[in-house]
Amino acid sequence: MLISKKMEKALNQQLILESAASFNYLAMASWCDKEGMDGAAKFFYNHAAEENEHMMKIFLFINEVGGHSVTPSVKQPTLHFKSVLEICQLALKHEEKVTRSIHKMVDLTVQEKDHVTYDFLRFFVREQREEEVLFDKVISQIKLIGTGGQSLYYVDNMLGSIESTMEEEATSEE
Ligand SMILES: [Fe+2]
Ligand SMILES: [Fe+2]
Repeated sequence: MLISKKMEKALNQQLILESAASFNYLAMASWCDKEGMDGAAKFFYNHAAEENEHMMKIFLFINEVGGHSVTPSVKQPTLHFKSVLEICQLALKHEEKVTRSIHKMVDLTVQEKDHVTYDFLRFFVREQREEEVLFDKVISQIKLIGTGGQSLYYVDNMLGSIESTMEEEATSEE
């Protein structure tokens, strides 16, 4: 095995966080969908898929380096929300928790001089930075747009347009 037992355990813990994130976003997408907010729904459906990719990335890595990936059990996420603003604030909070967990794992790789996992985790360090910046920005924009009258329409458009910009960036990177 290329990694320590302790690292294997930490990575399996991270799997649980990524899959919880995926289901949280799926529940958020579903709520937005039911509320008729198509842009926001698309934004969160895509986020759910992205977190599932993160989960799979770690899953395959653990097995690749000779460990044993443990399929996480699924806890039902919160299904009902007050507003898109509340959703984004919850999302940021969860992303911050994920970031702390990733950083703790990087600390462990340094402690253990585990260059393989250190290198693997670089993607996640970058990813978390982007996620926190994104949700920070989205929250400020929602606050700017406000909660009165037609604001929901604009919030929905804004989230939908972020999603298409992200898609464009992803295809131009390929
Ligand atoms: Fe993630
Ligand atoms: Fe994330």
